Amino acid sequence: MTALPQTAATRPVRVTDLHRMKAERQRIVMTTCYDTLFAKLLDECGVDLLLVGDSVAEVLNGAGSTLAATLNQMIYHATAVCRGVRRALVVCDLPFLSYHVSVPSAIANAGRVMQETGCAAVKLEGGRERVETIRCLVEAGIPVMGHLGLTPQSIHVFGGHRVQGRDEAAARRLEADAQWLQKAGAFALVLELVPAPLATRIAKQLEIPVIGIGAGPGCDGQVLVLHDLLGLTESFQARFVKRYATLSNEVRSAVRQYAAEVRDGSFPAAEHSFSE
Ligand code: KIV
Repeated sequence: MTALPQTAATRPVRVTDLHRMKAERQRIVMTTCYDTLFAKLLDECGVDLLLVGDSVAEVLNGAGSTLAATLNQMIYHATAVCRGVRRALVVCDLPFLSYHVSVPSAIANAGRVMQETGCAAVKLEGGRERVETIRCLVEAGIPVMGHLGLTPQSIHVFGGHRVQGRDEAAARRLEADAQWLQKAGAFALVLELVPAPLATRIAKQLEIPVIGIGAGPGCDGQVLVLHDLLGLTESFQARFVKRYATLSNEVRSAVRQYAAEVRDGSFPAAEHSFSE
């Protein structure tokens, strides 16, 4: 196991640490997280960034897309995650339509997330069209992470989970959008489902860290949905996901054994019972 860098092991990660990590070519580790229990485990493992992703709507709550996540749900989950963290920096997704209607409502919604949850930053999706919102959020003291490429809140516009930036014009648009987000004051960005050479180019062009998901090894860090990497989600496995465990099988086997022991009377045994 690779040891954590000394300073990183002991003190909370700040937005400014991420810039230093990029400059020092230290890859940034990020996973999604939706609850206190996993937040504690991930924090203990030295994960740098915990993303309270709006993917919670799909992963935990059975929705067909991230559009179902509401502001109150994000606040509920982000509060739980922040309760479990000592070192990792917690970023909370701003859900669909919570930052699109107007800049003042975006500030009010992001402000609620920061104030009520204790998280350190918010993430929002989109490029050039989000510049004004990002600039105003940063001016209000709210650190913003951008999200480009396949932006799941626009899944109905894309018509499915398709790799973005494949042709020359689309690639140039993504490169320009990344520059816009950096100029607007975003402290980092997630780049989802884009060809690896394009992601590498964008990471090299930017001063802010680029965290990839399905964007190849040339990014400054990687993010995966926790339940995918643990093998808890089973319905669909994207090519870019690596499963590091198959916990769904562990869960089945444990619960089947419990059920069998309840049915045959072997649980609870004497050691699980009180004599008086
Ligand atoms: O909501 C989420 O889980 C995300 C990641 C896929 C980056 O935005």
